[in-house]
Amino acid sequence: MTADDQKKAAGRAALEYVANGMTIGLGTGSTAKHFVDALGEKVADGWIVKGVPTSEQTARQAESLGIPLVSVDEVTHIDVTVDGADELDAKLRLIKGGGGALLREKIVAAASNKIVTIADASKFVDVLGAFPLPVEVVNFGCGTTLRRLIDIGRAHNLDTHDLDFRMAGEIAFKTDGGNLIADCAFKAIQDPEALARDLSDCPGVVDHGIFLGLSSLAILGTGEGVRVIKPE
Ligand code: A5P
Repeated sequence: MTADDQKKAAGRAALEYVANGMTIGLGTGSTAKHFVDALGEKVADGWIVKGVPTSEQTARQAESLGIPLVSVDEVTHIDVTVDGADELDAKLRLIKGGGGALLREKIVAAASNKIVTIADASKFVDVLGAFPLPVEVVNFGCGTTLRRLIDIGRAHNLDTHDLDFRMAGEIAFKTDGGNLIADCAFKAIQDPEALARDLSDCPGVVDHGIFLGLSSLAILGTGEGVRVIKPE
């Protein structure tokens, strides 16, 4: 089974947690894409749902499948959001933002009654941080902010040799909000809660890809079928 097969299995299994009539947060990335495809089939079969996209990319996919969309500001609540992750641990602490959509993903997640995380088995880790942590940073003073991120990493005894702005070819990658992403290869984040607090307090940081206390359950695609994980 390839990683994409596992992503597809997890994405399709997430259909169990949504139903006709719901307002559903639609995640971003290659795993969420499988869920959105599966939801599109349900809509084609007659389900009436409202989708809240977490990126322009997901909005385009959902529109092409005929899934009616609303913005997060147009709804009072979101029943369930289904989204991928770059890493998750047994407490369902996540690193997200590999696709650059972390800010919208976190806003939609925070407005959701339930969050189902979907991923292939390789994303499940003992310690977060092997995947470089995406941190969204405003353009103004970005060099200063990057130096502060290095200082924060040092204060947490993290590896700070490989922190830099994400590129899209020759130019800086820009998020849907027009900001930059600093990819911070901290390697092993022993205390995600403390790091998350310090990153949030850093001037110039819009948000970071550590998602804490948000995911209600995870569905992992594995070689032996899907595995459901509830937070420890
Ligand atoms: C998008 O910014 C991310 O948070 C994705 O949810 C995450 O990167 C997982 O992506 P894949 O499903 O493509 O691995």
